[in-house]
Amino acid sequence: MNEENKLEIRKPESFITAKQSIKLYRQRWRRLKFHVASLDRLTGGGLHSRGIVEIAGDAGSGKTQLALHLALVAQVQPIDDMPRRGVVYIITEHPFPSRRITQMEKAFKKNARILSAPEKFNFTDNIFVEHLHSPTALEQCLSDRLPVLLENNPIELLIIDSVAAVYGDEQNYVDRAQSFRRVVHALHLLQERFDFAVVCTNQVRSVVDEMTLDEERVVPALGLAWASLVHTRIQLSRVIGNHERTCRLLFSPTAPPGQCEFVITEAGISDATEPL
Ligand code: GTP
Ligand code: MG
Repeated sequence: MNEENKLEIRKPESFITAKQSIKLYRQRWRRLKFHVASLDRLTGGGLHSRGIVEIAGDAGSGKTQLALHLALVAQVQPIDDMPRRGVVYIITEHPFPSRRITQMEKAFKKNARILSAPEKFNFTDNIFVEHLHSPTALEQCLSDRLPVLLENNPIELLIIDSVAAVYGDEQNYVDRAQSFRRVVHALHLLQERFDFAVVCTNQVRSVVDEMTLDEERVVPALGLAWASLVHTRIQLSRVIGNHERTCRLLFSPTAPPGQCEFVITEAGISDATEPL
């Protein structure tokens, strides 16, 4: 029995060394790469497969486009010998953009050889879409239907687009904060059991105070109760009429704050300096 197998059967409640933890929980530290050079550089190699990653930004800033891009690229990176894994896409506001993802998939397949993905693979067949519009429906989905789906379909990524829309009508901030905690707790437990990354998109709201009277400043919606549950926060912005987007990394446990540019084209998301 090799060292790694010995570690696998160690009782979870016993202490292990820091070095053993790297081997034992290898899948916890892996990253979901964007396969877009500027975004991978900014995030220090991609998104974590544990915790909640938030992509905030105003309408049209590219949150859904980036989420659709991730839904495709997540499928090109099976772990070691594991089979290719799918994506769950929970959509809460607009109808799921089926035409757009089909258009992106077409371009993506042309590029798939570079990413060592099979050209004949139908990526959209492996994206499981659910439409939800309320906190109760979201919580029920995470506790009842999602675990059943995950038992039968291993996934690499779960997207909630957008989390703000689910809580748009909730006026009771205490109930809202409790629901955030239940949702995030359920996601953490499922991540530990089924091993996948979680990306939530979020709207932004304007801030007007003495510091910002002369300039427009927007911050992610849902307040501190939500922000404290997020592990990595990314904020997108755009200049109207320009296809270039700015992506700011506001905080992450493993990469310093910074920013970069990317573009949205017919083919999808690509590096501002090396468009597809
Ligand atoms: P909300 O959901 O409304 O908050 O916005 P969002 O941030 O999700 O915006 P989304 O990701 O849907 O981005 C929409 C923008 O993407 C459009 O305004 C276009 O600028 C760009 N876009 C979408 N499809 C195409 C396309 O086929 N070609 C190009 N060049 N741009 C596109
Ligand atoms: Mg959107």
